Amino acid sequence: MTDDAKLNVRLGVNIDHVATIRNARGGDHPDPVRAAVLAAEAGADGITAHLREDRRHISDADIERLSAEINLPLNLEMAATEEMLNIALRHKPHAVCIVPEKRQEVTTEGGLDVAAEHKVLAPIVDKLANAGCRVSLFIDPDPVQVAVSKALGAAVVELHTGAYCEAHAAGQETKKATELERLIASAAMAHQAGLEVHAGHGLCFETVQPVAAIEGMRELNIGHFMIGEAIFEGLENVIRKMRGLIDAADSSPAVPSALKSVEL
Ligand code: PXP
Repeated sequence: MTDDAKLNVRLGVNIDHVATIRNARGGDHPDPVRAAVLAAEAGADGITAHLREDRRHISDADIERLSAEINLPLNLEMAATEEMLNIALRHKPHAVCIVPEKRQEVTTEGGLDVAAEHKVLAPIVDKLANAGCRVSLFIDPDPVQVAVSKALGAAVVELHTGAYCEAHAAGQETKKATELERLIASAAMAHQAGLEVHAGHGLCFETVQPVAAIEGMRELNIGHFMIGEAIFEGLENVIRKMRGLIDAADSSPAVPSALKSVEL
């Protein structure tokens, strides 16, 4: 293991689905900014929020308030559009993660095809980086996507863990192991190329540790599972438990069967 592998893996708490519940009724309850405050108290290292073009969960006003009221770094997820670029340049969040977006999808279904979209992405990455934002590209764990992300000048790649998590949920152990290998290989390639490595999508208590233990992993962004589990266990308890699992995985090898447990 390199020294870098021993660094703590940061936990970014994605609060989009607090806004999903709020928007189901209109009004202002539950408040995602209140969730962000609780997340900070429970040990989150950052807050992640996706301002979608259709504003189905997080709103422009949420981004204003998160920028003004939260003491943690804000990671703004956004599509590569002129409108979103202008919003990001106005707020200058600590980090921007560029994600693919389709109007009809339920959630971000796959990574960006940075190889196909490089002409659109290049000026956006440049402008955000020049404004001082840490730019991340959300990609599938694929060597071509890693190489083009590096060529585009991104500081970070966030590896999409959806296929690994779906294989876990379906009980497909062989596919799960293959997907974990893809994550490990892409993380190694990105790390060697000097990119910071993040990961996220679909992670839960059962799937987080092998990903947190990947050499070079620096940050995990997790939302849906924790907001859902908070209904039963409370948001702070859930974040503390996730934090504990990540920390326990940090020093252990990436062996899925060797999960260490952390009690609520
Ligand atoms: N990372 C990125 C780039 C995402 O788009 C999402 C989903 O919004 C997540 C992480 C978190 O995924 P989940 O809500 O499934 O934990």
